[in-house]
Amino acid sequence: MTIAILGGGQLARMLVLAGTPLGLRFRCLDPAPDAVAGHVCEHLCAPFDDPDALAKLARGAEVVTFEFENVPAATTERLLQHGPVRPHPRALATGQDRLFEKQLFQHLGMGVPEYRTAHTLAELQAAVAAVGAPCIVKTRRLGYDGRGQARLKPGPELAAAIAAAHRELTRGNDGGLIVERFVPFQRELSVLAVRSLRGEIAVYPLVENVHEGGILRRSRAPAPDVSTATSKQAHDFVAAVLQDLDYVGVLAIELFDLGGTLLANEMAPRVHNSGHWTIEGSVCSQFENHVRAVAGLPLGSTAMAHGQATMVNCISTLPARDAALALPGVHVHAYGKQPRENRKVGHATVVGADRAAVDALAAKVSALPPARGEW
Ligand SMILES: Nc1ncnc2c1ncn2[C@@H]1O[C@H](COP(=O)(O)OP(=O)(O)OP(=O)(O)O)[C@@H](O)[C@H]1O
Ligand SMILES: [Mg+2]
Repeated sequence: MTIAILGGGQLARMLVLAGTPLGLRFRCLDPAPDAVAGHVCEHLCAPFDDPDALAKLARGAEVVTFEFENVPAATTERLLQHGPVRPHPRALATGQDRLFEKQLFQHLGMGVPEYRTAHTLAELQAAVAAVGAPCIVKTRRLGYDGRGQARLKPGPELAAAIAAAHRELTRGNDGGLIVERFVPFQRELSVLAVRSLRGEIAVYPLVENVHEGGILRRSRAPAPDVSTATSKQAHDFVAAVLQDLDYVGVLAIELFDLGGTLLANEMAPRVHNSGHWTIEGSVCSQFENHVRAVAGLPLGSTAMAHGQATMVNCISTLPARDAALALPGVHVHAYGKQPRENRKVGHATVVGADRAAVDALAAKVSALPPARGEW
C-alpha cells in the first residue's frame, strides 16, 4: 500500500520512518529540491498547484495525507478527484483559519482568548480598543512559529504600533487579521489525539510546552501537576473536535493553562512538534498512529512507554554530534536540513521513569555546544 504525502519536510520524513516497518510505501510532493522526506521516500519536486504533479502524487496511492495545513483549497479539491484525502479537506479549511478554529472551539463549549477580527486599519484600531492592550495581532491564515504576529503594548506608542502591525501583517496576503487579548497563562499545554477511519479515538497524555520567541523549545509528557478534571476537560474537548470534523488522523490542539482553567489557542490538523516525544515516549508514536489512521488500520496504544518523556527542539543548529551521542539515553533526531536561523533542524528526546532525572538529562542536551558544519 502506498501513502502519498503533501509536503516533504521533517514531519513527512518522520511519517515515512514510522510507517515503513508496517510494510507501507510513501511518496511525497514538495517544491523544495532538498525536501528532507526525499531522503527516505520517493520525492516529486513540483509546486503544490501543479495538476500533473498532483495526479502523479495520487497515482496508485491508497490515500493522500498532509504534513502541513496551508494547502490551497484548489489543491485539495484536485486531490479528491483522485481518491481519499485524510484528514478531510474540511478539517484543513478549519485549521487554516484562526477565526474558523475559534468558532468551532466556542461551538463545542471551549473557552478561547477574547478576540475581534479586522481587515482595514480602522477596523484594527477598533478591534484593539475592544480587546484592550496588551494584545496580539495575528494573520488569520498562514502563520507559523510566531510569524505573522505582532504584540501590542499599552502606552503612547500604541497607535503607531497598530499602524505598523497593519502595514506589515497585511502585506502580500488577503488582509484578514484577528486580535487576541494577551492571556497571562501559567503555562502552555497541548493535547494530541488520533481518530481512526472507524471512529475509534485515542488520546495521548497532556503535554507541557515551553515557547521562546514564538517557537516551541521543550515539551514534557505527561505534563506535570495536571488535575484529573483538567485532563478530562482536554480529553473530552479534543474528542469533540475530532467527532465534529469526522476527522481521520492525528490532531493537535494548543491550550493555555490559566491555573486549572483551559483556553484553546489553535489546532493543527496534522502531526505536531509537541508530539515528537511520542517516538520513544509512547507505545505507538503520533507518526505511526497517523499513518495507521489514514491507511484504515487499527490504532496503536497512546500510553506512555517509560513513564516520562522530555523533548528538546534543536533550533537553528544541531548540538555537537559526538557530545550528543555520548549522552546515554538521549535519542537524537537530525532532520537532514541545512542549519539556518530559527529553523527546526532536529530534536532530542529523553525518556525514563523519574521526572527529575529525565529533566536533568534534557538540560544537559540543551547545554551542549552547537555542531560546527554538517552532521
Ligand atoms: N493570546 C495570547 N496570549 C498570550 N500568548 C500568546 C497568545 N497567542 C499566542 N501566544 C504565544 O505565542 C505563541 C505562538 O502563537 P500561536 O500558537 O498562535 O502561533 P503559531 O505561529 O501558529 O505558532 P506555532 O506554529 O509554533 O504553533 C504561543 O505558543 C504563545 O506562547
Ligand atoms: Mg501555536
